Amino acid sequence: MIRIPSAPGPSPLPFLGVTARALGWIQDPIGTAGKLFARYGNVASIVRGPLRIASPGPIPAIPWLQRTNGAGVVCVNSAELNREVLNAHERYFMIALSGRLFPKDVEPAERERPVTRLMTGLFHVNAAEHRKHRRLLMPAFAKTRIDAYHADMVRITNDVLANYRVGTTRDVHADLTELTLRIATTTLFGEDEGARGVDLARVMQTWLLTMMSPKMLLRIDGPGLPYRRFLELTAQIDRETLAMVRERKKRPAGPDMLSMLLAARDEDGSALDEDELVGHAGVIFAAGHETSTNALAWTLLLLSQHPEVMRELEDELASLRGTPPSVEELARLPLLEGVVKESLRLLPPVPIHPRLVAQDSELGGHFLPAGSEVFLSIYHLHHDPDIFPDPKVFRPRRWETARPSVYEYNPFSAGPRMCIGAAFAMLEIKLVLAMLLSRFRFELPANTRVDPRVAITMAPSQGLRMTLRPRGLASQLPNRVGGRVRQLAQWPEW
Ligand code: HEM
Repeated sequence: MIRIPSAPGPSPLPFLGVTARALGWIQDPIGTAGKLFARYGNVASIVRGPLRIASPGPIPAIPWLQRTNGAGVVCVNSAELNREVLNAHERYFMIALSGRLFPKDVEPAERERPVTRLMTGLFHVNAAEHRKHRRLLMPAFAKTRIDAYHADMVRITNDVLANYRVGTTRDVHADLTELTLRIATTTLFGEDEGARGVDLARVMQTWLLTMMSPKMLLRIDGPGLPYRRFLELTAQIDRETLAMVRERKKRPAGPDMLSMLLAARDEDGSALDEDELVGHAGVIFAAGHETSTNALAWTLLLLSQHPEVMRELEDELASLRGTPPSVEELARLPLLEGVVKESLRLLPPVPIHPRLVAQDSELGGHFLPAGSEVFLSIYHLHHDPDIFPDPKVFRPRRWETARPSVYEYNPFSAGPRMCIGAAFAMLEIKLVLAMLLSRFRFELPANTRVDPRVAITMAPSQGLRMTLRPRGLASQLPNRVGGRVRQLAQWPEW
């Protein structure tokens, strides 16, 4: 008997079955989720039938899942349900490739071995294994450690800004990618890996897009098929990360995260093995740059469309007299803080994130069988008018009084699996933004279209071209942004 969630949702389409609905979700998860919540409530099936979307590869611990398309997928909205799912992490697993669902005693096929290694990072362990690894990693993310990265962040941002000239138009998304990557490689591996880090990140980006491709639903390791491409890209990332870890081991310990991980010891005195080091490094690297890049790019876009906020922010930043703010000075820039928080609310870099149900459960009065998937929508939570009045409006000053709970506002998620890099990201985003805006105003060229692409993270799919102007430029009406991003927020009209 096929067991699927009891949550209401649309029926499979005639002839096309569940797949067509899954494709609709993959192409536009935010829009699809919005329609499902409006029609079916806060727990809605993406389609009433067996389906898997987020968990690629076999799931040996649930053998019957291999013979079906899966056990159904629901999307979930509301602070209360969010709290329930995020805290019960023995029940709602991160992704199905590890922990109880990918037991270590199952020998992966040779070609799948790099997948299992890359999936030993924090993102992919669950329950007790997750607790153990999180404990080992925490010291590398302690506040004093993070503050020590301030000098590297300033140096790298200055390097990137050295190429900036007033009057030129550039893809700032590409520049920010290079910037956050160099910060990530320096803080993680202790050396600015320059082009090598950028290349690795490009492969990771393709890997992520391949993993999220609708064609992955086929999951056949055959010539020209996406699952084969996924395995090949995984092997490449694995090889390159392993090489960087081995090189790091040869140099003396430093303040970088990898040194901390090499020195970390569990209660029984055991250290992380090479597979675990590669897994952690890969996940921290992947999770730690693209999200920050997108947060910075979305913030520059929002500011370009809200010149009055931009002017006020320039006034606040004028107190820095053009010098990069110290950690203490950053804490005394309330509008900068409000701008970043509001941008993360309105256009969250991770708008929707998945969980795999590890044991039969009930959520919001609905049955969820083991093996079904749950997508939590951060975007819809952040756009709830009961929590944030005029939710689609960019209003940084709301943060002078707004005090939402961590389950109402959680760009970094919440509970035991909350983003381990949240403090790092906030320092990086505020510092880089302050340095960029202390020197330039970023203007959108005429007729710019911005179409968000959601593949776990939300990025502008064609990059983001902006023209550099002198800061404090006399007011003139900005060019209006076009494209699908207009549906995600309310943009000023003029
Ligand atoms: C604006 C920037 C960032 C955003 C919006 C963000 C968002 C998130 C979210 C939503 C999760 C939870 C995913 C889930 O529960 O399904 C997460 C987890 C994680 N993030 Fe971030 N992140 C950011 C920056 C960073 C940085 C800079 C690092 C590392 C330096 C990092 C490393 C991680 C790791 C390792 C996890 C897994 C935590 C665990 O499972 O225990 N993130 N992030």
